Amino acid sequence: MFQPSPWRADFPAIAALERQHQTYLDSAATTQKPQALLDALSHYYGHGAANVHRAQHLPGALATQAFEASRDKVAAWLNAADSHQVIFTHGATSALNLLAYGLEHGFNEGDEIAISALEHHANLLPWQQLARRRNLRLVILPVNEQGFIDLNQALQLIGPRTRLLAVSQLSNVLGTWQPLPALLAHARAQGALTVVDGAQGVVHGRHDVQQLGCDFYVFSSHKLYGPEGVGVLYGRKQALEQLLHWQFGGEMVQLADYHAASFRPAPLGFEAGTPPIAGVIGLGATLDYLASLDALAVERHEASLHQHLLRGLADRDGLRILGTPQTALVSFVVDGVHNADIAHLLTEQGIAVRAGHHCAMPLLKGLGLEGAIRVSLAVYNDSDDLQRFFDALDQGLELLR
Ligand SMILES: Cc1ncc(COP(=O)(O)O)c(C=O)c1O
Repeated sequence: MFQPSPWRADFPAIAALERQHQTYLDSAATTQKPQALLDALSHYYGHGAANVHRAQHLPGALATQAFEASRDKVAAWLNAADSHQVIFTHGATSALNLLAYGLEHGFNEGDEIAISALEHHANLLPWQQLARRRNLRLVILPVNEQGFIDLNQALQLIGPRTRLLAVSQLSNVLGTWQPLPALLAHARAQGALTVVDGAQGVVHGRHDVQQLGCDFYVFSSHKLYGPEGVGVLYGRKQALEQLLHWQFGGEMVQLADYHAASFRPAPLGFEAGTPPIAGVIGLGATLDYLASLDALAVERHEASLHQHLLRGLADRDGLRILGTPQTALVSFVVDGVHNADIAHLLTEQGIAVRAGHHCAMPLLKGLGLEGAIRVSLAVYNDSDDLQRFFDALDQGLELLR
């Protein structure tokens, strides 16, 4: 039975892609954008751009007002207690690098950082490099066959030497929600700081950072239907106070002379230089749009398409799904066929999916794979998108096997 998306027409690029005979099933990499975002960008640039936090003139005051209104909207979206706990960065990657540099002073030789075996490179490499700089031990929490961090082992590996735990909320390869409440509670009881990579998780459902109980939560705007070049770092008040400044320049400074300077606290102290003003304002408009949707209807729509995708893949011979995906995406391999060959034939038929290691090389290597195909869904997808994908997959496999 045809399952339409009631929100498809809100995303003008989907119709444009259809005219180019393209079916977009790569939203875990980045999403298409709602008209509300295009309108906000056009309004900002069409009515007078200005820098924020520095000019007294009217355009500057309006830009600052809109920019700070977005900070309030992000804080509300995450249920942060205070918008000063929201720092704008250039993406999840830059937020995680900010943390790895800003917290570096608190680590001593022999301290441990725990991450999981399924992390995206963005939540692996900043910690790996910090460990190398400071002679720390990077502890890798194992992942079980279903695709979840193995809690029993994790609770043993996170101990009094663990100074920081950094884990993904929702795996970008396996589509599994990680057991965060137990992990975070245990890590905090050991005195460790906790970092949640919400890059994929933030896109599906609303998440309350206070309830989650993490010290830091990061995400990228572009995966949440917003513009690129904007990321969010949320921090608990006491955790933010532990951050040392890491990038220096305009706007983050309190007082400066030639040989010394003092710096502002969060958030502005961690937003050196001109921020991505239009992008931040655009993210605010995107959140307004998302907040206007019926959250339960979105959840049902995504769940139903996901089940459809899982069933369709399970019905096909010789195909292996990685882990037990719960939300929005499925990664798979086909016995005896290289993932790049499948991707090539899908691309030729206008199906946009992702192939390769998905920026999680150690995870794929651990699974004995060079790569996999990932199909990922968003609110604008409908069952016809999946049908086109299945038809193209069947044709491709017929040629390849
Ligand atoms: C789980 C996860 N973490 C972090 C990132 C990095 O996001 P960005 O490239 O927007 O900084 C991604 C992007 O794919 C991701 O899926």
